[in-house]
Amino acid sequence: MSTRILQQIIPSISTSDGAGVRLRRSIGQTQTVRVDPFLMLDEFSSINADDYIAGFPSHPHRGFETVTYILDGHMLHEDHLGNKGDLKSGGAQWMTAGRGIIHSEMPQQVSGRMRGFQLWVNLPAKDKMQPAGYQDVQAEEIPVFTLSNGGEVKVIAGTAKIAEQMIKGPIQGISAEVLMLDIRLPAGGEFAQALTSDHNAFIYGFEGDLLVGPADNQRVLATQSAGVLSTGDLVELKAGVQGSAFLLLAGRPLKEPIVQHGPFVMNTRAEIEQAIADYNNGRLV
Ligand code: CO
Repeated sequence: MSTRILQQIIPSISTSDGAGVRLRRSIGQTQTVRVDPFLMLDEFSSINADDYIAGFPSHPHRGFETVTYILDGHMLHEDHLGNKGDLKSGGAQWMTAGRGIIHSEMPQQVSGRMRGFQLWVNLPAKDKMQPAGYQDVQAEEIPVFTLSNGGEVKVIAGTAKIAEQMIKGPIQGISAEVLMLDIRLPAGGEFAQALTSDHNAFIYGFEGDLLVGPADNQRVLATQSAGVLSTGDLVELKAGVQGSAFLLLAGRPLKEPIVQHGPFVMNTRAEIEQAIADYNNGRLV
């Protein structure tokens, strides 16, 4: 067994996207800060409606997949296929843009906390032009495993082996074989998760400090930072004195060239020019 160490820390930066939604971007803050197959991770968290109310009006995507996970709040998704998804606290949404999707993501509340994440996962070249797909996941469909120390692990995507049990998340079939866990640990609580040894993985902390790595090589990951792990079979984690809440993400690296232009992520410049032309000519979807 080889235990992963915390190799690189990427503090999130404050930015805005859509029609002016305030968010924190870690992975994807520049086009060189990526963890193949992950292109981007945004955290939005605010109690101030002005930070989120404008939402993400109609916009296109091509060439990748997204997972949106809502902790607090209520968002409505609508796309050109006629899908309408009501994303509520604890729920998730998996969208495969494939050759093209045009959608909107709009908050359905005018006050209170809005908090959640959007993850962008690249598609391999062979899958980039597949038809768009969409799946809504309600909070009740996400399995929660309670740890002996009182902590909790939610399996959102992929299948996790926890305490010799295979826990299957509702999102299965992301091309890059993504594992997405929401983990909560009490103060000083420990947890170890088996990972596919050659998959890339990172942790995004959103509450409390977290110690990452084996006992003889631990590093602190502060909140609102992404911690990129080395390869290995296992990751060992320990919450700080405040307890800790974080996402653990792993996926198969695609090892393909990436050319990104805003919401289009392809392998070559020519494919990006085609995507822009298709969108301008109404032929994206
Ligand atoms: Co979008």
